[in-house]
Amino acid sequence: MKINFISSFNNKNISNNRIVVKLINSSEINKIKNNELKNYFSSHKFVAKFLESCIVPNQNNFDIYLGIGQDKKLDELKLQKIGAKIFALGNAMKSAILIVESCLDYTGSNHADIVFGALLQSYRFNKYFVKKSTDKNILVNEINFLTKKTADSQKHFSDLNILAKNIFMVRDLVSEPSNILNPETYSKLCSEIKIKGLEIEVLGEKEMAKLGMNSLLGVGVGSEKESKLVVFKYNGGKKGQAPLAFVGKGVTFDTGGISIKPANNMEDMKTDMAGSAVVVGLMKNLAERKAKINAVGVIGLVENMPSGTAQRPGDVVKSMSGQTIEVINTDAEGRLVLADALHYTNTKFKPQLIVDLATLTGAIIVALADVYAGLFSNDDKLSTMLKECGETTGERVWRLPLGEEYDEMINSDIADMKNVGSGRGAGSITAAQFLQRFVGETKWAHLDIAGVAWKGKGDAMAHKGATGFGVKLLNELVKKFEK
Ligand code: BES
Ligand code: MN
Ligand code: ZN
Repeated sequence: MKINFISSFNNKNISNNRIVVKLINSSEINKIKNNELKNYFSSHKFVAKFLESCIVPNQNNFDIYLGIGQDKKLDELKLQKIGAKIFALGNAMKSAILIVESCLDYTGSNHADIVFGALLQSYRFNKYFVKKSTDKNILVNEINFLTKKTADSQKHFSDLNILAKNIFMVRDLVSEPSNILNPETYSKLCSEIKIKGLEIEVLGEKEMAKLGMNSLLGVGVGSEKESKLVVFKYNGGKKGQAPLAFVGKGVTFDTGGISIKPANNMEDMKTDMAGSAVVVGLMKNLAERKAKINAVGVIGLVENMPSGTAQRPGDVVKSMSGQTIEVINTDAEGRLVLADALHYTNTKFKPQLIVDLATLTGAIIVALADVYAGLFSNDDKLSTMLKECGETTGERVWRLPLGEEYDEMINSDIADMKNVGSGRGAGSITAAQFLQRFVGETKWAHLDIAGVAWKGKGDAMAHKGATGFGVKLLNELVKKFEK
């Protein structure tokens, strides 16, 4: 999509596929001098509530009036929602080019946020359409934002533009079918990322076996594809300062293994690498925007398949940490992957904190649906920070408890632990409890994103499909550490 911040435009160029979108505050409605317009609004009961729209015919075409409510100042998120709405409206009108007129005296950063929202809403995963004619669903492909502060808007938009591109990369990865994206192709794609300051290393099965990562490797032994661990290092901060670490679950397809899943909706399990994709997008974003921080990203890439070589229920594996695990259910594989990825990250990089992301449990969807991600942590301060970042970015998290009683539920009769809890309840908590056994005393937060990584219906900020949930949230968290 083309985005321009312009100080004026030529009225004559307004034609069929160009629409002017006018943002209007609800208190301005009464001040309108044009009687015709005033009457039109009142006959359509349009009062310019937040995100309320009114389509007004003009000589050639239509104008779209979009309400922004009463607030004198709108926060980032509301501005982004306005942008998303502008895009959705323009698109519904089959308009290719939008001219956005803001009647308020916004700052450059406000303008940038509006356009950022429009950009996020414009994403589609359409690479596999061959026959569908594109001219039948013209998408808005150009937004011209009218502002007197072109330079200032442009300056603020440049970081948001980088962020949007990286969110799109995450959405692309999560949407990609698993016959295309497997641990081998995924790790290759990672190693081909070339950004100054971002170091990328790929470990194969041989290297991981040497390190004793049998918990991770056990998940991949049923697959034809080689399991991989990809490590991203970015040093934009002070020399010697402990890094922030981000760890992601990258199960490129989760059949459940021998504890195989039912056929219904199994196709959704191509998204079981969403946590890892967020780590890739985040690390790339930090390097591209030259964040003043040291960071590492570690992703465990495996395919969970049933086969003659697959791991069986009841098998016992020894993790890199030395702790042994009885694999009761091969479908509780995410925690097995993360166990080794977390221990590796913690011991190798001695980070000041670790945040992991994983589409870990169906139970978190039962608890929070696609509204909040589940947050689990051994540190109150880190939890509060994440909660705040969630509120500002709209990628909200809800903290659930950890505790001894839950920890006991994963004790095994024949090994140090088992990979599912006894009893029926608290499936997301026992999973988090399992992860906690691999992070030592390091400050750690676990985000269960099984519900939020993919939205079947879409929302105010994004079209349906992969959301990229976590990139904005953790980028915001990193910003707090840059100060
Ligand atoms: N990848 C799934 C969790 C999941 C479910 C993600 C639905 C997205 C949508 C995970 O590996 C899994 O299968 N978890 C099991 C754990 C159980 C066997 C203890 C689950 O939640 O049912
Ligand atoms: Mn599973
Ligand atoms: Zn899984």
